[in-house]
Amino acid sequence: MDLIHAIRGMNDLLPAEAARWQLVEETARSVLERYGYKEIRTPVVEETRLFQRSIGETTDIVEKEMYTFEDRKGKKLTLRPEGTAGVVRAVLEHNLFADDRAPKVYYLGSMFRYERPQKGRYRQFYQIGAEAFGVADPLIDAEIIAMAWRFLDELGLGGLEVRLNSLGDAQSRASYRELLVAALTPHKDALCADCQRRYVTNPLRVLDCKVEGCKAIAATLPSIADALSDASKAHAAAVEATLKDLGIAYRVDPQLVRGLDYYTNTIFEISASSGELGSQNTVVGGGRYDGLVEQLGGQPTPAIGFAFGVERLVLLLGEKQKAARPRVFVAALGVEARKWAMRTVEALRAMGAAAELEYESKSFKAQLKRADKIGAKLVLVVGDNELAGGYAQLKDMTAGAQRQIPLQDVVAATLTALNASV
Ligand code: HAM
Repeated sequence: MDLIHAIRGMNDLLPAEAARWQLVEETARSVLERYGYKEIRTPVVEETRLFQRSIGETTDIVEKEMYTFEDRKGKKLTLRPEGTAGVVRAVLEHNLFADDRAPKVYYLGSMFRYERPQKGRYRQFYQIGAEAFGVADPLIDAEIIAMAWRFLDELGLGGLEVRLNSLGDAQSRASYRELLVAALTPHKDALCADCQRRYVTNPLRVLDCKVEGCKAIAATLPSIADALSDASKAHAAAVEATLKDLGIAYRVDPQLVRGLDYYTNTIFEISASSGELGSQNTVVGGGRYDGLVEQLGGQPTPAIGFAFGVERLVLLLGEKQKAARPRVFVAALGVEARKWAMRTVEALRAMGAAAELEYESKSFKAQLKRADKIGAKLVLVVGDNELAGGYAQLKDMTAGAQRQIPLQDVVAATLTALNASV
């Protein structure tokens, strides 16, 4: 029979990599919960129009990258390409504002984009995201960047740079749009086909275009800073002042635009400066989206959030991973000893220890090899002779020492020895 393979750009997470993913996920939960964020889980599939209306009809994601299909009744559905839209939908659908005027939520989950796969860029990838609703004050913009930074710091990742920009409020955006269209019109014919089509409806997309010709034109365009309203300028200045106060280094990058249409005012990304990730070096992107809740049918509500790409964090972690739990292996020979072994591993597990045994009837030599293979810290050795004599041997695999333990004390003595090794 031929082997069936995974879909291109969609990866298996194998047991050997699991400890690294767990380190990322556990650190994220620990940091996010310290900042008052609570977990939310939304479906992987949503109505297509949710993403069209939020991410924007003329973005790369919506135009080219969504996995969209019809269900059996002809309803148009899409595998979520990002988490924010679904979270806003859920917050509104369940009216989380009813018992908290400023809910803060986080999520971990897979997202899907039909992009060209390469290192750090996949078609199914995982995000860890956070979204905070109901706060307009720039304090939270700085706090969310500080939170992202703390998470990276606790993972022990360095060599990273925070880039910051402001896209302005609705008023600034409208005047910037006019400036851009006027500046782009003389270059219209030199733009790529996508940009020619969307430069009037969504000229910001030209600034984010990856085609060389468009990049060259983008470099000559007026900066968004020229169009910011006084309110947007004051907001940006306050975010920067708080970041300085917290000692978080950042660089204002007037070229930063982000690929989704819902952003207003503050946007930011954190990227690895070393070559480790190649061109896919942005580990987190986010920003304020003060218009989105209303755009999805809610009351006008300020909001801000970010999302990390988990694969990229795991790549940066290299060999670093969650410390393995010490475990005990029970090696038994003989019918009665094997029964005792089964009862003993269960008793140890009930007390919270990680314990395994050999399932097949095998020689002691083969069982000790197995214990070594699973990385057991301790091995309990019991044959029918030991059983008749009322004791077991407790072997410490790292120290090489061995001692006799009376059977009734085995569980307690093993637990003590395991705890001593942590
Ligand atoms: P995004 O910039 O599209 O923003 O994605 C956030 C992060 O997800 C990226 O910085 C990257 O680390 C990771 N990522 C994106 N696409 C891929 C891919 N194809 N393969 C691997 N990793 C990828 C958003 O998704 C927004 N929802 C973030 C946000 C939340 N803004 C406000 N709240």
